[in-house]
Amino acid sequence: MSKPVDAAIRTSHILGSTMAYREDGAADAPVALFLHGNPTSSHIWRNILPLVAPVAHCIAPDLIGFGQSGKPDISYGFFDQARYLDALIDDLGISSAYLVAQDWGTALAFHLAARRPDFIRGLAFMEFIRPMPTWEDFHQSEAARATFRKFRTPGEGEAMILQGNAFIERVLPGSILRKLSDEEMAPYRAPFPDPESRRPILALPRDLPIAGEPADVYGAMQSAHAALAASSYPKLLFVGEPGALVSPDFAARFAASLRHCALIQLGAGLHYLQEDHPEAIGRSVAGWIAGIEAVRHSQLAA
Ligand code: BEZ
Repeated sequence: MSKPVDAAIRTSHILGSTMAYREDGAADAPVALFLHGNPTSSHIWRNILPLVAPVAHCIAPDLIGFGQSGKPDISYGFFDQARYLDALIDDLGISSAYLVAQDWGTALAFHLAARRPDFIRGLAFMEFIRPMPTWEDFHQSEAARATFRKFRTPGEGEAMILQGNAFIERVLPGSILRKLSDEEMAPYRAPFPDPESRRPILALPRDLPIAGEPADVYGAMQSAHAALAASSYPKLLFVGEPGALVSPDFAARFAASLRHCALIQLGAGLHYLQEDHPEAIGRSVAGWIAGIEAVRHSQLAA
């Protein structure tokens, strides 16, 4: 793929800190909000935004504590992330959007959709978070499950993520099939130069809703998935082979259980599917949005 022109990076003052976001596409087009996961940033959407920008006003925030956003003195749990994202959406005056999400971005998207169903024009998602009744329902790899158990163990998680930078140096490259160049890795490394700066990365594995814990996030994800199951807005689920949190078989069953959910098999991929399949994801999201908008316009004209 030829190197795309980077989307403009802007900053908003949010809840006493700052949040950065990439912006591309026409301001009067329907908004597409791209939500990243742990430990990435809007950088993960860099090769996708230019493909969607012809049909949408693309906005890709850096979650609070990630990318070029600020690092206020907060605990960086899921509900902190939701609070800052809500405030950014308000600040930017976004009243409805297509959501395009991966990993923790999906938890934020499901939670937002459950609270504000009228906000959602459609939801495209991949490698998604759901309430997982047992550890076997989490990552498909036993070794990864063991690693995440350590991340959640007081002392061990701090040593591995804060001191050892394991999420950036091992989990991230280990969950992408191709090898990222140093130039591509640099924006992932830059926000996390020292142990203190990595606290936002440590908080999220500890909030993964596994085996009922933590109860508040588990409950919120149960409610959010009940709302998703009852929803009728258009959905698009991407899956990789073998995937990490979501296998092709699971994705097929999940998509079939939802109303208006199309499934796209990307081929070989692990967790950060945007790094292995930006063209397929970008072109599919653009075509999906264009199709939905065409139907909306024909319904309005009728
Ligand atoms: C997660 O943060 O949920 C995650 C990260 C890497 C691989 C699998 C899951």
